[in-house]
Amino acid sequence: MEDLESSELGTKEFWEQRYDEEISNYENHGDPGEIWFGEDSVERVINWMLDCNISKDFKILDLGCGNGMFLIELARNNFSKLYGADYSENAINLAKAIADKQDYNFINYFKHDILEKLDEKFDIIHDKGTFDAICLSENAKCNRNKYLENICEILNDNGYFIITSCNWTLHELDEQFLSKLIRHETIPTPQFKFGGKVGNVVTTAIYKKK
Ligand SMILES: C[S@@+](CC[C@H](N)C(=O)[O-])C[C@H]1O[C@@H](n2cnc3c(N)ncnc32)[C@H](O)[C@@H]1O
Repeated sequence: MEDLESSELGTKEFWEQRYDEEISNYENHGDPGEIWFGEDSVERVINWMLDCNISKDFKILDLGCGNGMFLIELARNNFSKLYGADYSENAINLAKAIADKQDYNFINYFKHDILEKLDEKFDIIHDKGTFDAICLSENAKCNRNKYLENICEILNDNGYFIITSCNWTLHELDEQFLSKLIRHETIPTPQFKFGGKVGNVVTTAIYKKK
């Protein structure tokens, strides 16, 4: 996996400021903010979970949950053990405000940096755009490895790690994760064709522990 040039999207300051603005928008207009990679990307993952009959009691962590809209959709589908972590305190405050308003205050939101240790295990770890942001940080190579190490620590032996990325192809995600995980499945995403080559706008892949 080639390193990308670092950018402000890889800094905590960027996300704190962004969610500060989104809190104002939410308070003033009721707008919960951006759904990264579109609503379809949420729907595809939830449909996969429903099609596989994933237990409604599975302990599910949304890593880098942002405004928490993925967890809200899971709550709407009666999943009951929901956790959202983000290193931005403003993101956590926004996500809590949105969940409270919709009477989903059983969703457990907490501030956490995935590059730090976490002493808890989950049946599903979901990431949409967080690994992408980490890959734009300074020291990305070291951070990517720490990320993988920590994912393996907190994923239950039979659990699923579901990742949606707009920066990496399936081949590149495999290159990063297959040292410690095995690929279980990919969720088909829209494709485009350019100059005879077919590519995906976003990639969603599901991994399990070896
Ligand atoms: C592109 S946004 C995606 C937000 C959300 N997953 C979504 O799909 O709407 C990336 C998120 O990752 C969070 N993030 C980035 N690095 C993180 C880290 N090391 N630990 C926890 N959260 C992180 C950011 O604060 C931001 O909320």
